[in-house]
Amino acid sequence: YSAATPYTTLPSVLLLGPSGAGKTALLTLFERGPSSPSPAQTHTSQVTSSVELAVAQETSYTTDLDATGATAKKFLLVDTPGHPKLRAANALSYLSSAEPTIKSPLASDHGAKSKLKALVFVVDAAALADGDALPQTAEYLYEVLLTLQKRFHGRKGSRAPASMPVLIAANKLDLFTALPAALVKSNLEAELGRIRAARSNGLLDSGVGQDDLNANDEVEGWLGGDGSEKFSFAQMMEFDVEVDVIGGNVVGDGPGAEKWWKWIGERV
Ligand code: GTP
Ligand code: MG
Repeated sequence: YSAATPYTTLPSVLLLGPSGAGKTALLTLFERGPSSPSPAQTHTSQVTSSVELAVAQETSYTTDLDATGATAKKFLLVDTPGHPKLRAANALSYLSSAEPTIKSPLASDHGAKSKLKALVFVVDAAALADGDALPQTAEYLYEVLLTLQKRFHGRKGSRAPASMPVLIAANKLDLFTALPAALVKSNLEAELGRIRAARSNGLLDSGVGQDDLNANDEVEGWLGGDGSEKFSFAQMMEFDVEVDVIGGNVVGDGPGAEKWWKWIGERV
């Protein structure tokens, strides 16, 4: 230990996803438990905010860890605004470096950097059933995954960027209109594939001749494995990005949020 040793702070998990998906409601649930007045009373987030949480193996987020004496791991859960105009500065900006960090918002951390361990991309599984929500959600997810992928092309030296697990939390399964997690997964994969195809066509149609495109341009806009016709989340493994899709809900009756909590606990 010396005075020059950087202050180490807790690792963090980043919540992101489109506006209205339930990020702030989920953070409130994990912070206060289901007995809180109502995690439903949220409003559109405009800034990033975080809470400090503790997770222990085989325990619920409702468990009082002090009482059980279990060894807990502490981490920061960081909530970001989903509004398209606020995403780039708040959520995407953290993801482009090889070892993503977030400036700890805790006053006690004196602005120290917190290592980002995992992403939870919250989606509204009921909204995905119809309308514009699917393309809008997939557009944001495409940006997130492409940003993570690009870390590999931009890296200096031989060290691979930190692996980044991504949980797609298919939220609002209490609603009967909600798509089950398996359909959320396949619909998102299909839509990401459409966006990928449209982008690469757009690049070719934009008057930029094939010759003007250097290899990097092609690689950079193309999400997932080369030469694959269909997009699948499994293709992201090549870039050390493991994607899981798990259903749940923050309010109402349904599978709840325990599986998400467990997923997070295994990665912090
Ligand atoms: P932004 O801050 O705008 O990015 O949105 P957000 O993702 O933080 O959404 P928020 O947590 O504010 O939730 C939006 C609305 O969805 C609120 O009215 C919540 O009560 C509601 N909501 C969240 N989770 C669930 C759920 O599991 N089921 C149902 N039925 N509603 C939910
Ligand atoms: Mg919010």
